[in-house]
Amino acid sequence: MKRVALLGATGSIGLQAREVIDAHPELELVAASSGSQQLDGIAPLTQVGGDPVQLLEQAEPDVVLNAVVGFAGVRATLWTLEHGVDLALANKESLVTAGDLALAARKRGGGRLLPVDSEHSAVFQCLEGRDPETVDGVVLTASGGPFRGRNRSELADVTPDDALAHPTWNMGPKITVDSATLANKGLEVIEAHFLFGLPYDRIDVVIQPTSVVHALVRLRDGSSLAHLGYPDMRVPISYALTYPDRSRTDLPQLDFTSGLVLQFEPVDDETFPMLGLARRAGQAGGTYPCAFNAANEVAVAAFLDGRLPFLGISELVERTMDDVDGAAAADLNELVEADAQARRLAEEALVAA
Ligand SMILES: NC(=O)c1ccc[n+]([C@@H]2O[C@H](COP(=O)([O-])OP(=O)(O)OC[C@H]3O[C@@H](n4cnc5c(N)ncnc54)[C@H](OP(=O)(O)O)[C@@H]3O)[C@@H](O)[C@H]2O)c1
Repeated sequence: MKRVALLGATGSIGLQAREVIDAHPELELVAASSGSQQLDGIAPLTQVGGDPVQLLEQAEPDVVLNAVVGFAGVRATLWTLEHGVDLALANKESLVTAGDLALAARKRGGGRLLPVDSEHSAVFQCLEGRDPETVDGVVLTASGGPFRGRNRSELADVTPDDALAHPTWNMGPKITVDSATLANKGLEVIEAHFLFGLPYDRIDVVIQPTSVVHALVRLRDGSSLAHLGYPDMRVPISYALTYPDRSRTDLPQLDFTSGLVLQFEPVDDETFPMLGLARRAGQAGGTYPCAFNAANEVAVAAFLDGRLPFLGISELVERTMDDVDGAAAADLNELVEADAQARRLAEEALVAA
């Protein structure tokens, strides 16, 4: 039996993880947390709101699935890595904002860091057992979101409902808006940098509208390995929770006889500047990725509340990144301070706009 602690148990990933755990007799849900929704005894130990560290200490899990949304997931990521417990990571924001601290904690703790994000799970699987010398780079795919093919002027008046209508994935509201702006792909580029130790110029992004190809790995002899599957997060969740066994699921295999379409397109960087801003943050290093993430969280919440137009999201993030100092954080306290400073600057810019 593997003892699983599930953080963010009421969200989109959390609910799918509960299905996966129910379907695998070798997985036992020993602890679950949420931000504010009730958990109704879904696990022997539960916690609503607050710091999840006490819950984790009590639960003594073999694996923690961190499916909290946003910077709120950082503390649990660092605790899990520091204590050598396996981490199945959906909360990409924690690796984006605390990448250096997380890698140092993993080194000390010695546990596994298993990506749940479908693109990173795909890369992880294509890289397994491969000599890093043979790898030229990775390609993350993006669906392009609901606004693929539009230009900037066509995005001036789009509403939260328009942005929440994702063509291929059914996800929580924050990541769905991030997919519409391509900030999600930007976060994923930074996440890939920390997960796979690759420089930014070896992490490419391409649009693949049906989300059937999740990622590719380019090898030095001219080959590319791709990971394919229907867009269903239960597959990477199951892979991470049952690693290294890859337990059977009853999810459908791809049907190659029903007109699968696998076209690829370049990203329109002019219409969707968030990907470029994320690369800039990643390349600048220090707490710039933390500032990118914090400003984006503020901007997305404001957009969903009707306080900021869609195109204002990237403007607010760019302005915040220009205003922060971006100095590296030596520990979690300094990181929390950098996050708070960026949020403050973003909120001020929002009020002034
Ligand atoms: N959804 C996907 O398909 C998908 C795919 C790849 C990666 N991810 C990543 O997975 C993470 C979760 O995404 P999601 O779509 O599942 O989000 P979601 O549906 O919004 O769920 C978020 C979960 O986090 C909890 N939470 C929110 N704020 C919290 C706080 N301050 N402290 C503790 N818990 C808190 C929520 O609890 P309440 O319900 O009580 O608010 C909920 O359980 C994100 O980092 C996202 O980028 C998601």
